[in-house]
Amino acid sequence: MKPYKNSTRLLITTFSLLLLSLCPFSIGESEAIESLSTRLETKKPSPTEQEKAAKGVLQRLLPTHLSSFEFKIITKVIANNTSISCFFFVWIKGTTAVDITSGLHWYLKYWCGAHVSWDKTGGAQLGSIPKPGSLPPVKNEGVKIQRPVPWNYYQNVVTSSYSYVWWDWSRWEKEIDWMALQGINLPLAFTGQESIWQKVFTEYNMTKQDLSGFFGGPAFLAWARMGNLHGCAYLFFPNL
Ligand SMILES: *[C@@H]1O[C@H](CO)[C@@H](O)[C@H](O)[C@H]1NC(C)=O
Ligand SMILES: *[C@@H]1O[C@H](CO)[C@@H](O)[C@H](O)[C@H]1NC(C)=O
Ligand SMILES: *[C@@H]1O[C@H](CO)[C@@H](O)[C@H](O)[C@H]1NC(C)=O
Repeated sequence: MKPYKNSTRLLITTFSLLLLSLCPFSIGESEAIESLSTRLETKKPSPTEQEKAAKGVLQRLLPTHLSSFEFKIITKVIANNTSISCFFFVWIKGTTAVDITSGLHWYLKYWCGAHVSWDKTGGAQLGSIPKPGSLPPVKNEGVKIQRPVPWNYYQNVVTSSYSYVWWDWSRWEKEIDWMALQGINLPLAFTGQESIWQKVFTEYNMTKQDLSGFFGGPAFLAWARMGNLHGCAYLFFPNL
């Protein structure tokens, strides 16, 4: 890795899951959410996998600067410890991969004047980012950012039909990268709902024949799920 003129260090620490106990939930809610958080914690990919995923976002967004950033998953305790070290790249640390990628976007936005939006609202505007080696340094002790709320939610129940229905993987990948850069850590995922319903109905002895024509077609899944219509542009769901 080539050393750069400016030693830059950015410490982004966002405690998305770990700050829950400080949030103003009632006792019952807090216990329920804490147990959910504990379960989610056990399903988290390894730090190495998360760091690699965050690097993947950088590679797709700004391949020229792949070596200008270092990402590290850290724990809450270490996140609090902001000892100064000399690094030759922008060093972004976070408690999850999404925290790291949102830290990357934050640095590009506030330190480099760049902007990452949907295509219809301007797309990725990266022209103002200096070349590798000339990236603006942040102050030596780093910058610490804390998520003000534990979850950043995205989408509503109809977007899966109205907006995404015919998307292929490259379009999805772009959207997921955008979500990661914006810090979204709670996107709605309705996928597979019909499969679960089919299983439940089957337990009630309904046959495939009975269900034929009940579910909505791909572009109408949202309204079918809300019970507003049945069988519109229906495609048979094979045994899922
Ligand atoms: C915090 O940083 C100091 C100085 O580098 C180190 O001695 C100490 O062990 C660190 N503490 C934790 C909890 O990482
Ligand atoms: C973070 O560091 C400050 C100052 O070094 C200390 O007072 C505080 O207790 C630490 N908090 C955590 C959660 O480690
Ligand atoms: C489904 O059919 C089986 C076999 O006839 C019967 O034992 C069971 O009670 C039925 N289940 C429901 C929910 O009607």
